[in-house]
Amino acid sequence: MAFPQSFLDELVARSDIVDVVGSYVALTKKGANYFGLCPFHNEKTGSFSVSPDKQIYHCFGCKKGGGVISFIMEEENLSFPDAVRFLAKRANLPVPEEEQGEGSRLRARLLELNRDAARFYYELLHDKRGEACAEYLNQRRITRRTAVNFGLGASADEWDCLLTAMTRKGYTKAELLAAGLVVQGKGGSVYDKFRKRLIFPVIDVRGDVVAFGGRIVDKNDPGAKYMNSPETIIYSKRRVLYGLNLAKKSKRENIILVEGNIDVVMLHQAGFDNACASMGTALTTEQIRLLSRYTKELILCYDNDNAGRIATQKALELLNDTDFSVRVLELPNRIVDGQPVKQDADDFIKNQGADAFERLLSGSETGMDFRMARLAAGFDLTSDQGRIDYAAAAADLLAELPNAVEREIYTTRAATSAGISPDALKLEVQRSIKRRGYRQRREQEKRDLNVAAQVQPKERAIRYDNLRSAMAEEGVLRLLCTDDSVFGDTPPLREEEFSSPLLGRLFARLWQQRQESGRISLPLLAESFTPDEVSHLSTIVQKPESLKNAPQALRDYIRIIQEEYQKRSGAGLDPLAAATEKYKAQLGHGGKQHG
Ligand code: UTP
Ligand code: MN
Repeated sequence: MAFPQSFLDELVARSDIVDVVGSYVALTKKGANYFGLCPFHNEKTGSFSVSPDKQIYHCFGCKKGGGVISFIMEEENLSFPDAVRFLAKRANLPVPEEEQGEGSRLRARLLELNRDAARFYYELLHDKRGEACAEYLNQRRITRRTAVNFGLGASADEWDCLLTAMTRKGYTKAELLAAGLVVQGKGGSVYDKFRKRLIFPVIDVRGDVVAFGGRIVDKNDPGAKYMNSPETIIYSKRRVLYGLNLAKKSKRENIILVEGNIDVVMLHQAGFDNACASMGTALTTEQIRLLSRYTKELILCYDNDNAGRIATQKALELLNDTDFSVRVLELPNRIVDGQPVKQDADDFIKNQGADAFERLLSGSETGMDFRMARLAAGFDLTSDQGRIDYAAAAADLLAELPNAVEREIYTTRAATSAGISPDALKLEVQRSIKRRGYRQRREQEKRDLNVAAQVQPKERAIRYDNLRSAMAEEGVLRLLCTDDSVFGDTPPLREEEFSSPLLGRLFARLWQQRQESGRISLPLLAESFTPDEVSHLSTIVQKPESLKNAPQALRDYIRIIQEEYQKRSGAGLDPLAAATEKYKAQLGHGGKQHG
C-alpha cells in the first residue's frame, strides 16, 4: 500500500496547491497569499487562505488546514491512498502500485472506457443526435448547469453509435462487453445497450464513473423506463449510491435518501445538495456503511406510495442497528380537483417549491410524529410502568422542540395516543427543558472558566498539558517549517522532551523527512497524521513568527522545553524517577559511612 517516496515527491511537486484548491474555491491574491470562501464551513467573508510559498492552506475560521493531499482528503472525503490516486489522475502521473496485476489492469481500463463513454454521451447531448434528450431535459426543467454538474448525457437512436466511437478510440469489443456498455445479440453481433435514453453516469465517491443509468425520453417507447448497467468488475450496485459523489461534499449536516435519479438531480438543483439515491433498489448494509463515513443523520424521503413505504420500513429496520439518527420525511399528497395525487421529491419541488421542501426538512413536523411513534413502539403502554417510562422518554424528545406552540401540539398528541394525561406530560416536558437548560449553562460556565481556552487546540484529543512548554514546542515546529536553516544536522530535542505527544511526533516525522530527502514536506504528513492533526500543524505554522532573530528564538524555545522537561522528569511528577533519585541519594549517604 505504501507509495514510493520519489513518486509522492513528484506528485506533490506537480500538484500546486493554488491550482488544486483553485479548482474548488474562487481565490483572490492578496499579498503573498490567496484568499477565498472556506469550503469546509459556511461563511460570507473569506477567511480561507492558501500560501503558495508554504504550499499549505489554512482557514482562520474553522482552523482546518494542511497540504494539497489533506485538502483532497477533506474536500473529496477520501483516505490518504485514494487522495493520492485522485491527485495522480489529475496530474497525469501513473501510480506505481497500479502498474501490476492483470485484474487491476482490466479495472483501470474499464474505468477509462467508462470515462470516455460518459464524455461521449455528454457531447451527444449537444449534438443533433441528442436532441430528443436535450428536449427532455427542458421538459423536466433541468438546467444546463445541473446537467453539467451531474455529467448527464444522451444516447442516440442508433444501434452502434457508442460502439463505433469507442472502437475508434482503441477499446475492444470484449472490453465494451465487460463494461456492460454493449450487449451481444443472438447472432453474436454486439450493439449499444443504451439507445435514445437520457444518460446518468453513476459516479462513486472516488470520482470514478462505475456505471450508467438511462431513462427513456419518449413516453411511447416500449422499453423499461430506466435501464441500468449490469454488475461488472467495477460496479456492484449494493455499494454505490447515485449522487453521493456530490452529496458527500455538502455542507448540510445530513444526507437525504430518495428513490430516483431525477429526484436527486432536482433536489441538488433546488439547493439540497445532500441528496442521493439507491436507484430503485432497497438500501443495503454496504450503502449504510458508506454513508456512515459522511454523516450521522439520514433523512428518508422515499416515494409516497406503497413501494416507497415498504422501502422506508426496510431501511428503518437495517438502520435500527446503527448509530444513525434517522428521520422520515413523508411527502404530502397534492390535491388536484379535490383528489389526492401522490408525488415524489421531484414533483414536490416542482409543485411546491424549494422553500416548502426546506420547511418540510427543518420543521421536522412529520419527523416528530415518526419519532414519537417509534419511541412508543418500544414501551408497553398497557402497563402503568410502561406509560411512566414512556412519558419520561417522550418528554426528553419533546423538550428538543424549540418552538413552544409546536411543543404544546406534540405533547398533547403524544399524551393522548399513549393514554396519559396531557397536563402530566407537559409537566414532564417542562422539567426536561429545565434540566437541559441547566446542563447547557454548566457546560458554558466550564468553557468560560478555562482561561487557557484561547490557545488550546480546538480538537479535544490534542489538548496541551503544559502550556508554557507547548507554546515553545509550537515555536520550534514553526521555525522548522518556515526556515529550517537555523537548525543544524542533529535534532536539538528528543521526541520525549516534548510535553505534547502530538507535537513531539510531528517534530520527529518532519526531522526524519529533512534527513531523508533534504527538505520538509507538509503535504506528505497526511500519510501518517489525521486531518485534525495536520490542521493543527497548519494553525501553528500560520501564527506569526519573526524570522529576524530566529536563532535566538530557537535557543529560547529549546531552553524552555528542556526546563519543563526537567521539572517533569525530576520533581516527582514521574513517581518512579523520583523514587530512584531518593534511593540514589540514600546510597550516596550510606557510601560515605562505609568509606
Ligand atoms: P421511479 O419510477 O420512482 O422513477 O423509480 P423516478 O425517479 O421518479 O423517475 P421519473 O421521475 O419518472 O423520471 C425510481 C428509480 O428506480 C430505478 C431508477 O433508478 C429510478 O430512478 N428504476 C425505475 C429502474 O432501475 N428501472 C425502472 O424500470 C424504473
Ligand atoms: Mn419522479
